[in-house]
Formats: sequence, structure tokens, C-alpha cells
Amino acid sequence: MRVKTARGRTVSSQRWLQRQLNDPYVAEAKKRGYRSRAAFKLLQLDDQVRFLKPGARVVDQGAAPGGWTWQLAQRGVRVTAVDNGPLKGEVAEDRLVTHLRTDGYSYIPRKPVEWLLCDIVDSPSRIATLVGRWLAQGYARLSIFNLKLPMKKRYDEMLRCESIIHDALQRAHVRHTLELRQLYHDREEVTGFVERLN
Ligand SMILES: C[S@@+](CC[C@H](N)C(=O)[O-])C[C@H]1O[C@@H](n2cnc3c(N)ncnc32)[C@H](O)[C@@H]1O
Repeated sequence: MRVKTARGRTVSSQRWLQRQLNDPYVAEAKKRGYRSRAAFKLLQLDDQVRFLKPGARVVDQGAAPGGWTWQLAQRGVRVTAVDNGPLKGEVAEDRLVTHLRTDGYSYIPRKPVEWLLCDIVDSPSRIATLVGRWLAQGYARLSIFNLKLPMKKRYDEMLRCESIIHDALQRAHVRHTLELRQLYHDREEVTGFVERLN
């Protein structure tokens, strides 16, 4: 499907829209009733690391429209969904979901949680800094996060983000594992997985 140039639409938003309309996983997500295509990434990760455990408490940063949050709640996970934007559909009413319409960078959980999930759209280094701080401070034990990489020097940016997280955890004397992977459903992004070992 081709998207005609519309007045007021930037080249990048036109490109994004065209890709969305032609992406079979966007259509499949709609068919399955998922809130967004992002849900597939979470399912692929769960196939690999089995992290979706009933009763766990997680924070989902950049949660709207609610694809990840909905998958989590469906598996009995208690979710604090942080996003200034609205959650769409029944996920907004789910008893396991608390939606906080606030800025993800200033939010701190009252009690430590098991997982920090982060799908905020922002510069990779800001996300890496956020994740490093959460794990160094012990706000979460593990984190899964997406880094939306720039068009140029993607590999350099990945290495920079890796160092930001390693440095934050080393400064806090936290032993950890950190892995960045491109998942099947990732487009211009990589998914990170970091775990505190002490
Ligand atoms: C790719 S979407 C997340 C999709 C979501 N994971 C899902 O499965 O539906 C990125 C989200 O980041 C949110 N966002 C951007 N800046 C933010 C911030 N500072 N704090 C919280 N959320 C933010 C946007 O509002 C947007 O909803």
C-alpha cells in the first residue's frame, strides 16, 4: 500500500505510516485483539526467558496503548503502567493494572518491583541511563528494554548504551548480566535484558 504525501505529514511519519499499513504483524496483532504490534516482542522474549510469572510485580514504562501491559495482565502479572498517553480498550479497566499518567523519568516505585519493562520512545542513551539507575538503586531486579537506534552509527550507539548500564551498575558494586539482542519482531531497535546478580 502506498501512502500519498499529505500536507503536514513529515517524511518520517509518512514512512512510518506506510510501513505500519504494510506490516503483516500489525494486521495479525489487530486480528488477535492485541493493543499493539509490540506485544509480539514480549511473547518472543517470554518463549526465550520465561519471565511472565503470575503474581510478579512489574513496572511497564511507556506502556500506552497497552500491548505489553495487556499481555502481562493476561498472565496474572500485576502491572504499574506508566505513560502520559491513554491505555486503550479493556486493559485500562483490568484489576491487575494501575495506570499512572506521569513522566517515566521522574517516577520511582514505592516498593522495589521484580521487573522494569521499558518501551519509551526516546534517545537510546536516555533509556540506558534510566535502566542503569533503576537497577543500581534496586528499584527493580531485572529489566527488559527497547533501544530505538538512530539511522547512522547504530552499532556505536549500542556499545555506548551498554557502557552506560555497565558503568552505573559497577559504580554501585552490582554484579550483573547484560545482553542486547535484535529480536525477530524488532525493527530499527534492539532489545536489552539486564539482571542483578546480588
Ligand atoms: C512504542 S510506544 C509503547 C508501546 C507499548 N509497549 C505497547 O505495547 O503498547 C512508546 C510510548 O512511550 C511513551 N513515552 C514517551 N516518552 C515518555 C515518558 N517520558 N514517560 C513515559 N512514557 C513516555 C509514549 O507516550 C508511547 O506511548
